[in-house]
Amino acid sequence: MRQVVFAANWKMHLGPEEARAYLKTFFERSRLPDGRLPEGCEVWFFPPAVSLEAVAQALVGRSGFLAGAQNVYWEPKGAFTGEISAPLAAAAGARAVLVGHSERRHRFGEIDADTERKLSAVLEAQLLPLLCVGETLAEREAGNTLDVVTRQLEAALGRRPPAALQQVTVAYEPVWAIGTGRNATPRDAAEVHRAIRRWLAEHGAKSSRILYGGSVSLKNAAELLAERELDGVLVGGASLDPATWGELVRSTAA
Ligand code: PGA
Repeated sequence: MRQVVFAANWKMHLGPEEARAYLKTFFERSRLPDGRLPEGCEVWFFPPAVSLEAVAQALVGRSGFLAGAQNVYWEPKGAFTGEISAPLAAAAGARAVLVGHSERRHRFGEIDADTERKLSAVLEAQLLPLLCVGETLAEREAGNTLDVVTRQLEAALGRRPPAALQQVTVAYEPVWAIGTGRNATPRDAAEVHRAIRRWLAEHGAKSSRILYGGSVSLKNAAELLAERELDGVLVGGASLDPATWGELVRSTAA
């Protein structure tokens, strides 16, 4: 049976109170029978760190749902003002962590080597990494998409044994598609997904999941997910309204 992940990246939105209200509306409005997801479907929420605990608590006992952190620092503890570690995220209820999101790379200067260290820290804390990769518009126009994505995979995952690689989910998120309203076509996304899948299989991970992200909306989600190369979606803007997100999940999950 096909497994589909619907991942919501709230970015810098929704404090603890708002997060609780969001989830209440989401469960009321998503019209999921008994609040349960269809079989094979999972919903992952990545709230800001301050709301992690509220989200994790609201999801207790709901199967197929999890809370994750948007970012962690690679050291487990210490004098790193302003950072949170993977063990701290886990203590707040996180079960997954985004690594190398394009906004971390392009706005906060994260380099490939940082994604490697963060990925190690996430696995060490027994959390599930969701590694984000993707090319800029200039890189795509220069015909370098697959080189860039492969370089990002190599850096973060190249030295990992297959058992660790199996824990990793990858999100292909072209930088030019994030927050722009311009999504990749299912065909273009599928081409990159196939390259990522090939790379993972060559490194011993045959069943890793690959999500697509970048301007996924209620309008295009069904068309994107009709492409079987996509094991799910990672959604920013369209996940911020609980009714829209509930509708997106319900209408495309079955
Ligand atoms: P978007 O963001 O859906 O708003 O394009 C996706 C993401 O940044 O993960």
